[in-house]
Amino acid sequence: MSDLTNLTATAGGATRVADVENELNTLWTQIAEEDSKHPLLRATTLNLVLFTEDANSVTTLIGQLSETHPCRAIVIETGTAQDVQPDSLVAVPTLFCRPSLGAEVRKQVCCEEIVLRVGRDASDRVPGAVQGLLLSDLPAYIFWQGDVSISNVLLKSLGEVTDGWIVDSATFDESTGLTNLVWFLDTPHWHGSVYDLNWQRLLFWRGAVAQSFDSPQDRPALKTIRDVEVAHHDAPIQALLFVGWLASRLDWQLVPGNQPNVWTNNNGLMVRILSVAEGGPGLRSVNITAEPHVYSIDLADEDQFIHTTNGRARAFQLPEENTGTLIGAIIDTAGRDVVFEAALAEAAGLSDPDMTGVLSWKSGLVVAENAVAFAHLAARYFLLASQQAIKQHGLFTVALSGGSTPKALYSLLAQPPYRDQVEWTKVHVFWGDERNVPIDHPDSCQRMAHETLLDKVPIPPANIHGIATGTLSAEDAATRYAEEIRSFFKLQNDDLPVFDLILLGLGEDGHTASLFPHSPALSADDTQLFVANPVEKLNTTRLTLTAGVINNANTVMFLVSGASKAAILHVLLEEPPSPDDFPSQRIHPSHGTLLIVADRDAASKLQSAY
Ligand code: 6PG
Repeated sequence: MSDLTNLTATAGGATRVADVENELNTLWTQIAEEDSKHPLLRATTLNLVLFTEDANSVTTLIGQLSETHPCRAIVIETGTAQDVQPDSLVAVPTLFCRPSLGAEVRKQVCCEEIVLRVGRDASDRVPGAVQGLLLSDLPAYIFWQGDVSISNVLLKSLGEVTDGWIVDSATFDESTGLTNLVWFLDTPHWHGSVYDLNWQRLLFWRGAVAQSFDSPQDRPALKTIRDVEVAHHDAPIQALLFVGWLASRLDWQLVPGNQPNVWTNNNGLMVRILSVAEGGPGLRSVNITAEPHVYSIDLADEDQFIHTTNGRARAFQLPEENTGTLIGAIIDTAGRDVVFEAALAEAAGLSDPDMTGVLSWKSGLVVAENAVAFAHLAARYFLLASQQAIKQHGLFTVALSGGSTPKALYSLLAQPPYRDQVEWTKVHVFWGDERNVPIDHPDSCQRMAHETLLDKVPIPPANIHGIATGTLSAEDAATRYAEEIRSFFKLQNDDLPVFDLILLGLGEDGHTASLFPHSPALSADDTQLFVANPVEKLNTTRLTLTAGVINNANTVMFLVSGASKAAILHVLLEEPPSPDDFPSQRIHPSHGTLLIVADRDAASKLQSAY
């Protein structure tokens, strides 16, 4: 492998895109002059956006990739750059050149690397800066390592300006990582394709299985498979993807077996994933029993060959692989990989039994088969949003909803595993709306939340931002709460708060929070934040966040359950907007994610396939 650093030039750094291009041109000239005997060939085949805590760790990857796919690498340093002004963003370009192949030794610019150093308060400017640096006539991919989250605003906004997104599921959390990826792919605005290095690592294993059953005498055996055993070393997610692939192609309809990593179906098929100690990381063997044969595929360590033995031995040599070559292989096969996406959805269901009741993730609408899966879905989104927020800015601000639907969610959050996974000491709870009744009144949203959740989790009392209801007039209670919000979020002038998550119910009349049809709050000034809202049909005055505050959240999650909500959910999602008649239609987060978690009954009147 060539030494990338034998000719490298780095500029001091620029804060404007035009300056970056000028610095790159200067670097080209500088390198060309350093060795005028060899013409400089500029070859860039793609844009690659990478995230890293440490830009130096990326050089190896770029070197590997540039063997076959010279690229413009835009590297976003995710840690806050200490030596950069809080509100600024500095781009540091570097050129890596290496001797090109072939008789006449010519240098080839094999990689332009632009490291973006981001000040503490400048992260929201990253998508625009990246877009300005992309070479417009080349494909653009994001390479993301580690878990993804539905609330990752930066990733979502970059997803809108790139062609594809490359992950490595080997770096995911074993039980929830695949589900998070599936959910992320179905949040709105995501139009790119997703590729997985771990799936690419399975290419030869999938080929070996396909060829084992390819002959006319073996093909019928596919229908008589009784037992499958997949052994891996330190690659559980790769094994899950492999089983997910088999299950999706052969429509096995697997359900959890009687012990971990065992699945079965109603035809008595048994599927097991085993972890073995010997050999390198990855799949080690696959044994498929289909009377009268056992199709064995195993990786011999000494020669890195996959041997298949089902009466006719075959061998497949595994290529030398590294992150760069895997990314290159993915780029060469670009185009939506529906086989992968089907295997991924199956594998997510296998790895995350709580999610087995989930019927679909489509464009932000997630439909659960039953009340249990519905509550788990909502709890998982709550957990994910909290993890993302705490990782991004050290705390999680959530506005709770009232009504009866959220009770199942709150009760689940109050018990393991969610109770122990949420960092309650960093959670700040508000309410999206309330009735102006004392907190011990049966109708109080605050009372319901305390009884089902807040009195059962270790959240500091100071983190519970209650509304002074029952003693003040509705107007005074609303004004005081608006002040509480303004002070907590340190709002200036007409700023709106950015809640990390706002939970919403959906009334059968189309109201949400306490934004009722044709009620005064619909025309309130959003900067009032929280207002008293007389509701004639209820003969009462409610208290509610304004629609503008709700739309300014990072994630808004509707919880819609039961057949009684089927008609209004159809209106919300499939009828032309009439927001005064159906105020829930006003909810379109301006920069965040809209999620609608429903159960099968509530989704029963939707015309569009979900
Ligand atoms: C409230 C809620 C309200 C509720 C809907 C749906 O305080 O009542 O904020 O908007 O979410 O009326 O109520 P259910 O969940 O009981 O159907």
